[in-house]
Amino acid sequence: MSSSAILRALGEESRSAQALVTLVGVGPGDPELLTVAALRAIAAADVVAYPVARADAEGMAARIAAPWIGEQQRRMPLLFPMVQEVEPRREAWHAAAAALAAEVARGHRVVLLCEGDSSLYASCSYALIALAERHPSVPVAVIPGISAASAAAAAASSSGIPWPLALQQEALLVRPTPETEAELEVLLDQAAASGTVLALLKLGHRWSWVQPHLERRGLLEQSLFAQRVGWPDQLLARASAVSPAEQPYFSLLLIRQGWPAVLP
Ligand SMILES: C[S@@+](CC[C@H](N)C(=O)[O-])C[C@H]1O[C@@H](n2cnc3c(N)ncnc32)[C@H](O)[C@@H]1O
Repeated sequence: MSSSAILRALGEESRSAQALVTLVGVGPGDPELLTVAALRAIAAADVVAYPVARADAEGMAARIAAPWIGEQQRRMPLLFPMVQEVEPRREAWHAAAAALAAEVARGHRVVLLCEGDSSLYASCSYALIALAERHPSVPVAVIPGISAASAAAAAASSSGIPWPLALQQEALLVRPTPETEAELEVLLDQAAASGTVLALLKLGHRWSWVQPHLERRGLLEQSLFAQRVGWPDQLLARASAVSPAEQPYFSLLLIRQGWPAVLP
């Protein structure tokens, strides 16, 4: 079935939906990795909102979901500036929540698209909190999405590098890459001692010092580098194969320092 036929079918099923805001996780890049619930919510929406970092930007989540957005659906970019200052970000979060609430007040069904999972380091979580704080009567639903770390592990396993994220008593720690080598050192020691697999997000420019650090610790072979997972230019490799140059923002690292004793 084509994407437009699927959309038509889902739209017909969802017509009676009430006015609300639905946060929709759209996965890390591949439009095939949206859930059926995500497609249903998008198909039923009058307005499709999505975060952009600049007024003229396209928005990663909107690009991922593009095949599933109908021509008749109104698009609503919402500015989430990527700046350090607190006030411009707070203002933007409240402005986004106000724009979403205004659509619901007009009787519209709105989806807010979120890259990856909708609850994991997601821009739309700020809109969620701002809605709860200033527009508590607006009905909100949240549809989870496939996170980049899960998609990276699956892509590695599909390409001949078996990469279960966690097994048996292991822990999995998903977090931003530390800011300094000293912090990374402590994190790696703690992870090794506690049988924790690490998923380090926001790797980007930090790779230029993370790579030599892992090399010194003999960890490059046990680390998986994943860039733009699910996009046509996806790069997936053992970290030993990736040069220590700065990398794009959409890069992450999975580090497994050991395996459980009992395995096939
Ligand atoms: C703000 S977090 C968003 C995480 C997202 N909500 C999720 O569930 O995966 C952004 C970071 O996630 C990682 N990321 C997101 N999409 C990715 C992709 N397609 N390929 C590799 N890393 C990705 C990168 O480390 C990036 O710096």
